[in-house]
Amino acid sequence: MHVNSHAEPGGHVPVMLRRVLELFAPALAVPAPVLVDANLGLGGHAEALLAAHPALHLIGVDRDPVAIERSTARLAPYADRTTLVKAVSDELPEVLAAAGRDRADGVLFDLGVSSPQLDEAERGFAYSYDAPLDMRMDTGQELTADAVVNTYSEGELTRILRDYGEERFASRVARFIAREREAGHITSTKRLAEIVRDAIPAATRRTGGNPAKRTFQALRIEVNGELTAFERALPAALDALVVGGRVVVLAYHSLEDRLAKRILTARTRDTGPPGLPVPLPSHQPRFRLVTRGAELPDEEELARNPRAASARLRAAERIREPK
Ligand SMILES: C[S@@+](CC[C@H](N)C(=O)[O-])C[C@H]1O[C@@H](n2cnc3c(N)ncnc32)[C@H](O)[C@@H]1O
Repeated sequence: MHVNSHAEPGGHVPVMLRRVLELFAPALAVPAPVLVDANLGLGGHAEALLAAHPALHLIGVDRDPVAIERSTARLAPYADRTTLVKAVSDELPEVLAAAGRDRADGVLFDLGVSSPQLDEAERGFAYSYDAPLDMRMDTGQELTADAVVNTYSEGELTRILRDYGEERFASRVARFIAREREAGHITSTKRLAEIVRDAIPAATRRTGGNPAKRTFQALRIEVNGELTAFERALPAALDALVVGGRVVVLAYHSLEDRLAKRILTARTRDTGPPGLPVPLPSHQPRFRLVTRGAELPDEEELARNPRAASARLRAAERIREPK
C-alpha cells in the first residue's frame, strides 16, 4: 500500500529533487563526473541525476538488498553508467576504490527510511500496521527491533528512547516495556505501540501525533546504527571530494540534521588562532557552506508529498585541496 497517490509509479517521490539537481549542477559540469548516492533507495534522485548529466557515472549505495534490486531494475537504461553496491554508507572509501575511483565530484545523502520500507508492513518499521518487530534495513543483519525491545536492559532502553527518540517519558516507556515483557515476549509492532500509548500520560497523549512515533524512531536508529554510520560517512564523503565537488545532505529528524550541521560547520571554519594578522593558508577551511542554515521543502512540495515535511537540506563544497 502506498500512502501518496500523487507519487510516481512505485510510490516514491524524491525529496527536494529540483534543489538537489540545482546544487549538484556546477559540481557535475566537468568532463567525466562521478557522484556517489550514499542512500540509493528506489533510485529516484539517482535517475534524475543520470538523466540530467549524460556523462555522469553514478555509484549507488544502499544497505537494503531490496533497494539494490529495485533500483537496479529502475536504472537499467543507465546500466553502463552505474555501479550499484549493497553496502553501508560509511564504507564509501572502499566502495569508491572498488569502482576504480579515488575521488568524487558529488556525494548525496538522503537519510533515513524509504517509502517501501515504511509501507511494506512486514518490515516492521511502521506503528500503523501490525507486524513482527523487525526494522532492519539490511535484512541479513542479526540485530532486530525484537531483540532490542526484549533483551536490552531498562537503562539501555531509556537511553535509546531519550537520545534517539527525544522521548520526554523515556524512563516511563522503558519501565512499561520491561514490565510487559516479564509477562511474555513482545512480538508485534501493534503490541509495542499499545504499551507506549499506555506509558504516556493521558494529558500529553492528546498532542503531538501518535505517541509511538518517537519510540519507533529510536528503535529504528538503534537497530540500524543510523547515527553512527552517518557520523563516519559524512567526513569520509567530504574527504573524497575533488575541489569544486559538493556534498548534499537531506536529513529527516533533528538528530541527523544537528550531526550534519556540526560536521559541516567544523569543516568550513578557519582553524587558526583568533587574532592572527594574516590568516595562514594551512588554517584556511577546505570547504564552504553552499546553503545558509537548513533549507526546507516548499509549500507546493509539501502539498504533493507530506512525507517531505521533516526534510532539512544542507550542502557544502570543497574549495581547497587537503593540507
Ligand atoms: C530516504 S531513502 C532514499 C531514497 C532515494 N534518494 C530515492 O530517491 O529513491 C533512504 C535509503 O537509505 C538506506 N540507508 C539508510 N541508512 C543507510 C546506511 N547507513 N548505509 C546505506 N544505506 C542506508 C535505506 O535502506 C533507504 O533505502
